[in-house]
Amino acid sequence: MNLLLLKHLYKLKEAGDEYFEGFESKEQKIKMPNELEELKKQCENCTLCDLSKTRTNVVFGEGNPKAKLMFIGEAPGEMEDRTGRPFVGRAGKLLTKIIENVLELKRDDVYIANIVKCRPPNNRVPTIIEAETCKPYLLKQIDIINPKILVCLGKTAFMYLMNMDMPISKIRGQIFKYKEKKVIPTYHPSYLLRNPSAKKEAYKDFLLIKSMI
Ligand code: URA
Repeated sequence: MNLLLLKHLYKLKEAGDEYFEGFESKEQKIKMPNELEELKKQCENCTLCDLSKTRTNVVFGEGNPKAKLMFIGEAPGEMEDRTGRPFVGRAGKLLTKIIENVLELKRDDVYIANIVKCRPPNNRVPTIIEAETCKPYLLKQIDIINPKILVCLGKTAFMYLMNMDMPISKIRGQIFKYKEKKVIPTYHPSYLLRNPSAKKEAYKDFLLIKSMI
């Protein structure tokens, strides 16, 4: 994580940014409400990073506020930005199908959120600064909802939640821990749409998740 941060700082330096000693991030000063609806309101008014300038809607997350199973994606895409709802585009349709057909749950039974709550321009991967700035919202969501299982959809979601940079093909289907919760990384549904042959492995991961609920 430190290496990633350093890499990013060097890029910014190359682009002309300057360093300041004793920088204190805004996020440390922000108080987070302990109630999900209040947190949502605060998040919807957030202007802490540049993604707030280009978003149409904040995509806070949705689902059962007492869900035992929570999915964490990377960032809203075009449809999500337009509607303010997570995973409603093509990838979202696949995720919903998996929830219903493999896990035999309803979408409303689980909670779905993302690492960052605003769409990055052209669906690029969120930067470490954007992810770290937005992360307190996600961590507070996790605290309030208190799910037993967190499913990270794709490498980016896992990397930013767990501060571990590893290929998704190496870690998928393994069980990690965040606080007392189980964390299971698996392929992002967009990846499965582009690489249908990976569906077999993803299916195994979801059967494992099903056996744990
Ligand atoms: N991809 C994500 O990671 N999240 C969404 O909400 C939609 C697509």
